[in-house]
Amino acid sequence: MREYPSDRVDLRSDTVTQPTAAMRAVMQGAAVGDDVLGDDPTVIELQNKLAKMLGKEAGLFVSSGTMSNAVAIRTHTNPGDEIVTESTSHIYVYEGGGYATLSGCSVALVPGKLGIMEPNDVAMAIRKSDGSLGHYPNGSLVCVENTSNRGGGTCYPQETLDSIAKVAHDNDCQAHMDGARMFNAAIATGTDPARIVRDYDSISICLSKGLGAPVGSVLIGSSDFIAHAHRWRKMFGGGMRQAGVIAACGIYALDNHVDRLAEDHVRAHRLAEAVNAMDGFTVNLDSVETNMVYINGELSAPQILEGLAANGVDVLEVGPTAVRAVVHLHITDEDIDRTIAAFAAL
Ligand SMILES: Cc1ncc(COP(=O)(O)O)c(C=O)c1O
Repeated sequence: MREYPSDRVDLRSDTVTQPTAAMRAVMQGAAVGDDVLGDDPTVIELQNKLAKMLGKEAGLFVSSGTMSNAVAIRTHTNPGDEIVTESTSHIYVYEGGGYATLSGCSVALVPGKLGIMEPNDVAMAIRKSDGSLGHYPNGSLVCVENTSNRGGGTCYPQETLDSIAKVAHDNDCQAHMDGARMFNAAIATGTDPARIVRDYDSISICLSKGLGAPVGSVLIGSSDFIAHAHRWRKMFGGGMRQAGVIAACGIYALDNHVDRLAEDHVRAHRLAEAVNAMDGFTVNLDSVETNMVYINGELSAPQILEGLAANGVDVLEVGPTAVRAVVHLHITDEDIDRTIAAFAAL
């Protein structure tokens, strides 16, 4: 592990990354203010920088991807509305049902292929209160996840993204992208980030995943949307005072850690191919487009975890016989060799 205070190969998630020495240096020198009063210059710089990179007007720094999605959903919807999202999406599976509790919304689930929805399926899932004699909730927001985490780190084809946004807008819905790993998609598909998100009304970007910052996400959208989102962030308790210290890491990550995501993708692919070639394990190689590898085994997930851990390799249990390995900026070629050897020894 490069620049990591442990000799274990930690592949549980790309969220385990720790601030590098260069990042700690920018934290040390960061100019700060009070972001709740709106005068932290480093937070403002980060928000403006990312908004510009995505071709949008404004951004809002928040503590996590979960908060970013929650603020987006609350800003776009009214209680009694329904959101439309893929059945394995992070918003549905892993955010504590926040859409229901914090926004008062129900959810319409769309089955996807490796986490990727088809526009026609999205269209069929949108229910409108108008014209239903009051029977239906009001579908008002479509959420896509790019890359799709449970899909295996898969990327949406651009035409599918564009069509889903059109379906949303044609049906009087807003379109939100959970772009926790959108930069992985940009690198993997060779597409300008601004083009990827062009037709989306809001985008959540995580700085603390593949980009390697310690904390934080930024919600991006129009000035009007962000002004409303600001109020919800306040109510959700998400205002942070001298947040420039962590925003500085986000700026550093955007400047230095985007292009290098390509290395993670190459390493993930090498790991996937090697493990898939072993007896007793399968990886759907079609799903390995970015930095994630979902592995199914003949052994139980706890047995796989325990066996790998004994050889200094940590992965995440994601099903009875399934584990996930995620490649990130601390992982070297030697770590991948060690991981392959640890799988071979099981
Ligand atoms: C696709 C996706 N969205 C949102 C999140 C939530 O991010 P956080 O853990 O910062 O709340 C994650 C976290 O892994 C994620 O994978």
